[in-house]
Amino acid sequence: MSTALLTGASGGIGYELAKLLARDRHNLVLVARSADKLAQIGSELQVHGIAVKTVALDLASMPAPKFLFDQLRGENVAVDILVNNAGFGAYGEFARMPEEEILGQISLNITALTELTRLFLPPMIARGGGKIMNVASVAGFQPGPLMAVYYATKAYVISFSEAIANELRDYGVTVTCFCPGATHTGFAARAAIEKSRLFKQFGAMSAEKVARDGYRALLEGRTMAISGKQNWLLAQSTRFAPRKMVTSISRWVAEKADS
Ligand SMILES: NC(=O)c1ccc[n+]([C@@H]2O[C@H](COP(=O)([O-])OP(=O)(O)OC[C@H]3O[C@@H](n4cnc5c(N)ncnc54)[C@H](OP(=O)(O)O)[C@@H]3O)[C@@H](O)[C@H]2O)c1
Repeated sequence: MSTALLTGASGGIGYELAKLLARDRHNLVLVARSADKLAQIGSELQVHGIAVKTVALDLASMPAPKFLFDQLRGENVAVDILVNNAGFGAYGEFARMPEEEILGQISLNITALTELTRLFLPPMIARGGGKIMNVASVAGFQPGPLMAVYYATKAYVISFSEAIANELRDYGVTVTCFCPGATHTGFAARAAIEKSRLFKQFGAMSAEKVARDGYRALLEGRTMAISGKQNWLLAQSTRFAPRKMVTSISRWVAEKADS
């Protein structure tokens, strides 16, 4: 039985991914900050006859990825699948955004993801196989006024993931960059964007459907996967339109809808 390490497993897309991994009988290491939610999910998923370990950890605090890696190594847990899903966004003008919101997004969305990949990749290479999925966003395909840092962190995830997928093509390790669009989870409330045109007028997909798309892409070892036809079209359109226009539209979409 293989073991999957999944971050951000206590809700939203991560919880749905955990259910899919459990159904296919992967042992699980589930990470998030909420110990109680993780414990509840852990006991729910054990019915599949798998081992579930839960680790309550704030991945945005720098030693956390190394702490997690050392803990699992100490328990002889080999990670075959790494899903870097934990992430958050914050809304508002960059000039007015509190430092902890700016650095928090960078620490979780970029630093923890990169550090977990750095740590868990070499054992995968040594074993001749493994799968990594980094959850980015369609936000990563264009600049995002009013969520400048969040969009930029997701652009990093896309660029980083595609680059290392290429580097690893002869090592038996696949890297999948998964890009959801607006999805019904706790994300919009945390980012305070529930009233944005994006969520109010364009509509959001269910976390269950998004997770199914991501899981399929992970199993197939696809380098890039965008969830939903509308989101795919959006990502393609940003490649041809003038960047200034793309940025203006991006701001309009992020602004609050009138009603
Ligand atoms: N929902 C969307 O519209 C959307 C669209 C595109 C991309 N995404 C991306 O999809 C991924 C999953 O987001 P979601 O929509 O499922 O959001 P969510 O419902 O808010 O879930 C986020 C998960 O990350 C965990 N998390 C947050 N901060 C953490 C920290 N410092 N350390 C460890 N775990 C932490 C949360 O658990 P705790 O609170 O228990 O720590 C939770 O399990 C994110 O990378 C997000 O950027 C979301």
